[in-house]
Amino acid sequence: MNSNNLTRRKFLAATTGTIASVAASRVPVFANAGKEAGKLAIHGGKPVRAKAWPAWPQWDKSAEEPVLAILRSGNWYRGQGNTVTQFEKAYAELLGAKRCVCTVNGTNALLTALHVLDIGVGDEVIVSPYTFIATYNVVIGSSALPVFADTDPETFQINPDKIEERITERTKAILPVHILGLPANMDRIMAIAKKHNLVVIEDACQAWMAEWRGRKIGTIGNLGCFSFQNSKHLPIGEGGAVIGNDDELMDRVMSFHNCGRPYGSVKRTSGYPIIGTNRRMTEYQAAIGLSQIKRLEKDTQRRNENAEYLTSRIKDIPGIIPHKLYEGVTRAAYHLYPFRYKKEHFNNAPRSKFLATLSAEGVPCSGGYGPQYRDGLIEDFLNSKNFTRGFPKARLDKYRQELNYPDNDQLCEEAVWLTQNMLLGSRGDTGDIADAILKIYENRDKLA
Ligand SMILES: Cc1ncc(COP(=O)(O)O)c(C=O)c1O
Repeated sequence: MNSNNLTRRKFLAATTGTIASVAASRVPVFANAGKEAGKLAIHGGKPVRAKAWPAWPQWDKSAEEPVLAILRSGNWYRGQGNTVTQFEKAYAELLGAKRCVCTVNGTNALLTALHVLDIGVGDEVIVSPYTFIATYNVVIGSSALPVFADTDPETFQINPDKIEERITERTKAILPVHILGLPANMDRIMAIAKKHNLVVIEDACQAWMAEWRGRKIGTIGNLGCFSFQNSKHLPIGEGGAVIGNDDELMDRVMSFHNCGRPYGSVKRTSGYPIIGTNRRMTEYQAAIGLSQIKRLEKDTQRRNENAEYLTSRIKDIPGIIPHKLYEGVTRAAYHLYPFRYKKEHFNNAPRSKFLATLSAEGVPCSGGYGPQYRDGLIEDFLNSKNFTRGFPKARLDKYRQELNYPDNDQLCEEAVWLTQNMLLGSRGDTGDIADAILKIYENRDKLA
C-alpha cells in the first residue's frame, strides 16, 4: 500500500479546515485503499499487515561450533579458558574503550560500577525516572537514594535543565540512561558533573553502538554499563559489561567481580581478602557474544535507516509526534522506536484504543513505562533499614514531597513504542507501520 500522496498540506487542511474542498470531504482517503482496505481491522477490515516481523534473536550455523567446543571441553568457567577475555577485547575495541569486563548481566554491571565508584549508604544518585526498573534497583541495591530529574518528553531522556535543582550535598553521581537506545545529552550532563564534582555512570544497557559526537555511548562517563539479555541488540540470553578508560578503576571492576581477587593495581596489602563478589560471565555465554557481535554494525545501520524513513513518513500526521534526537547524537541504537500520541487529533480516543487499533493492523506496539516512582517500591525502600539508618528523616520526608515529575507523567500517558526487530525489515516493512498509522488517522472518527 502506498500512501505517499497523503501530503502535509492535506493533513493540515483536514485538521484546520482551511482548504474548503478538502474540508468538505473531511478526511483524506487512505491512499489506494479500496472500501474494505480502508475499514479498520478492529472493525473487521483487512489489516495493513498480515506478515510476521523479523524474529529476534537471529543466528546462523556458524554460531553453533564455538559453543559446542566449549561444552565438550568442560572448561566453562572463565578461569579455565579465554573466550570471555576475547569477547571483552572485541567489545572494547568495537566501542573504542580501553577496557571491558563482562558480567552476568546489565544489573550486575551497574552494581559493580556503583561499587567501584564508592557509591553507597547515605549517597544520592541523580537518575531518570523514565527507565527500566533495573536502574532504580541498582541505586536502591547500593543503599543510595535514587533522586529523579524530570524527563524531556521530546527526546524521552533525562532533562538536563532539571538536574541541577536536584543536587544536594549528598549527591555523588549522575546515572544517565540512554533509554530506548537514544542518547541522553552528554555535553550537558558531563558539564554539570564537572561543575559539581560528580561521577557519571552511563546506563547504556539499551544503547550498543549509539554515538554522541562520534564517540560511542558508554565511553563518555567514568564507566559505561551494558546488557546482553535476550531481547538486546547483542543478545546472549543473559550477560553484561562494564567499559572504561581508567586502568585503575577497571582493575577494581575486574577484582570486585571476581571475588576480590587481586588484579593489576588492586593488591592485597595486609594479607586479608579484598571485598568482592562473583559476577563472572561464563565461557559459553562469551562464545555466543562473539558470534552476535559480528552482526551488530550491520543491524545498527539498518535500524537507523528504517527509523529515519519511518520518521519521515509519520512526522506530518497530526497527533503523532516522533521522538527528537539531540543535536549531538551522531547515531542512535533504536532499542525501541518511540513517538507520542496526542489523542485530541484522534477524536479523543484514549491511547489504549490507539494501541489496540494499531496492533490489530499488524503493527504490535505498547505504551512503554508507567510512572514507576509512584509505585509502592519507593515507600518500601524509604521505610527499609538501609534508608532509615542511612539518611536523616528530614531528608527522606523532603524526598517524598519532591516525588513529582509532571513531564514524565505526561510522557507515560502519551508514549507509543515499537520494538527494535520491527526496524530490521525492508523499507516496505517499515512503510507498513506508517501506512497503518495513517489508516488509523483517516478513520479517527470511528475510534471513540
Ligand atoms: C535501561 C536498562 N538498565 C539496566 C538493565 C538491566 O540489564 P539486565 O536485564 O541485563 O540485568 C536493562 C535491561 O533491560 C535496561 O534496559
